[in-house]
Amino acid sequence: MLLHLDASARRASFSRRLSALYAETWRAAHPGAAYVHRDLAADPVPHIGEAWTELCDHVMAHQITDISRYEEAARTPARRAAWEIVKPLLDEVVAADVVLIGTPMYNYSIPSSLKAWIDQITFPRMSLAGRSFVVTGARGGAYGPGTPREAIDHQERYLRDFFKGHFGVEDVTFVHAELVNARIDPALAHLRERHEESLATALDDVVRVAAAQEVAR
Ligand SMILES: Cc1cc2nc3c(=O)[nH]c(=O)nc-3n(C[C@H](O)[C@H](O)[C@H](O)COP(=O)(O)O)c2cc1C
Repeated sequence: MLLHLDASARRASFSRRLSALYAETWRAAHPGAAYVHRDLAADPVPHIGEAWTELCDHVMAHQITDISRYEEAARTPARRAAWEIVKPLLDEVVAADVVLIGTPMYNYSIPSSLKAWIDQITFPRMSLAGRSFVVTGARGGAYGPGTPREAIDHQERYLRDFFKGHFGVEDVTFVHAELVNARIDPALAHLRERHEESLATALDDVVRVAAAQEVAR
């Protein structure tokens, strides 16, 4: 199953364009495979609340690592209500072979809509090992290897560290369209060509990665 998330606040979005191309290519290579698209910007998941933290504390206190047992924590009406939000999100990610995330860089990091989803689905010592994560990103500037801004790319860095460190996911691929602001910022007009090259490379890479993606589980 391909779980496809998008987080850009706009429709004319480069991260959406890349994720849509990935999804189209992957689905053509896996006819009949299930596909779920969740638009976290148009249909945002709520921020976690106090009852969610109680679910999490219960899971930790009882050393529950089996995701199918999390529901045991939903012991009060408030926790039950919190669980009703978590459950469909978690079911989707557990069922996924590939989790595809189209996301912009916002303020050196990820949109709060995507962070809200991560907060909802993440529990202590939770493993999503064996799944593949693919992130199609877009950013106004350039953060690639050797650039002055490389060290402040908290979009890729955060997602890579979190998926590997917390979920135990080894197979994480990033494809970015860079220098998108050169399309509109007159001060960056001289970088327009480099942006076009970055976008063309990203579009090629997305097709190549999607066509080659093994479904391990
Ligand atoms: C709220 C906001 C914050 C942004 N912060 C950054 C930033 O920190 N660094 C950057 O390079 N571009 C930044 N940008 C530019 C976006 O990353 C760029 O427009 C990108 O293409 C957005 O993704 P999208 O095309 O999928 O919507 C920001 C844009 C917005 C709207």
